Amino acid sequence: SGKSRVTVVGSGNWGSVAAKLIGSNTLKLDSFHDEVRMWVFEEKLPSGEKLSDAINRANENVKYLPGVKLGKNVVADPDLAHAVKDANMLVFVTPHQFMEGICRDLAGKIRKDAQAISLCKGMEVKKEGPRMISALISEKLGINCCVLMGANIANEIADGKFSEATVGYRDNKEIAEEWVRLFNTPCFMVSAVQDVEGVELCGTLKNVVAIAAGFVDGLEMGNNTKAAIMRIGLREMKAFSKLLFPSVKDSTFFESCGVADLITTCLGGRNRKVAEAYAKNGGKRSFDELESEMLGGQKLQGVMTAREVYEVLSHRGWLELFPLFRTVHEICVGQLQPPAIVEYSEHQPKFN
Ligand code: NAD
Ligand code: 13P
Repeated sequence: SGKSRVTVVGSGNWGSVAAKLIGSNTLKLDSFHDEVRMWVFEEKLPSGEKLSDAINRANENVKYLPGVKLGKNVVADPDLAHAVKDANMLVFVTPHQFMEGICRDLAGKIRKDAQAISLCKGMEVKKEGPRMISALISEKLGINCCVLMGANIANEIADGKFSEATVGYRDNKEIAEEWVRLFNTPCFMVSAVQDVEGVELCGTLKNVVAIAAGFVDGLEMGNNTKAAIMRIGLREMKAFSKLLFPSVKDSTFFESCGVADLITTCLGGRNRKVAEAYAKNGGKRSFDELESEMLGGQKLQGVMTAREVYEVLSHRGWLELFPLFRTVHEICVGQLQPPAIVEYSEHQPKFN
């Protein structure tokens, strides 16, 4: 039939919520098959049961989204090639560091007419330079890839609390509208903008600012300082995005993916939370240690993104232009102490 089949590649905290949201819509919309496949990176639970079996038995991701029913039409599948075989709409939502390996495994296994969307916040930096995750997907799999980013703390969306999100697309507006139809619900208001790099860089870079906000919280510096960090961070996000991709639009920073995601992540995100603990411990316990202790298998993106951004800045001679991004990385690797997060005012940024 002409109906679309959707597979969600990823089943972490946000991946599980995305599958639930999508599944609530495929049941209502005639143009989609009801079933939503969700690929699970298999693991054994402490009980000995496989995670994918537990999800299908309880209709709940007992590890990454406990207490939330996913909907009976969401089916967990630990076999990646099998999960994507029949799908023409692929939703990528894993921690960004795993996407290169996943794309390698998927090459040659997907439908030729498949469309993709990435919910992964991050980028990859190689000798050749930076590459956004949507570009990685496009290039490795030979398919078009939109992005969806926004102020979307997963647990709040799982509870049905109102939020917004932004779809970014390159040139095909009809396909962007199809993604909006798939994700939009009365509690999850999605709009599309023609600025795929702008949307994706907003989602990626705000995680670095959230690490800075967490340091400020850990040092108990107060609300004015935190607001200042968010403002300086937003300015660096915009400048960095436009230096990398001159096509990035100013208006994108006012969408949900921009200022709204920055705010929610700096107030209530995991990057903020772990960075707060890092500063409270005076930088004596590593991010890796704190992440595994505090997040129960969920992954931070901000520390890795700070390093990736730093590599771009140092390669291109831009370190002086981005004192906040630079300082976040230098604190994360122990080169500077957490209070340095407010000690760079002598390096005035040279842009407006
Ligand atoms: P998560 O942080 O819950 O990460 C855990 C997931 O990673 C699990 O599904 C685990 O099985 C998987 N995993 C672990 N090792 C793996 C490996 N080697 N290969 C493949 N997968 C592996 O994941 P998430 O919250 O779904 O985040 C995915 C993306 O969505 C991230 O880029 C994140 O920034 C973004 N995001 C998250 C939220 C949120 O509130 N959680 C909101 C918006 C966007
Ligand atoms: P954290 O990964 O810091 O929890 O941020 C989640 C997010 O991206 C909210 O939109």
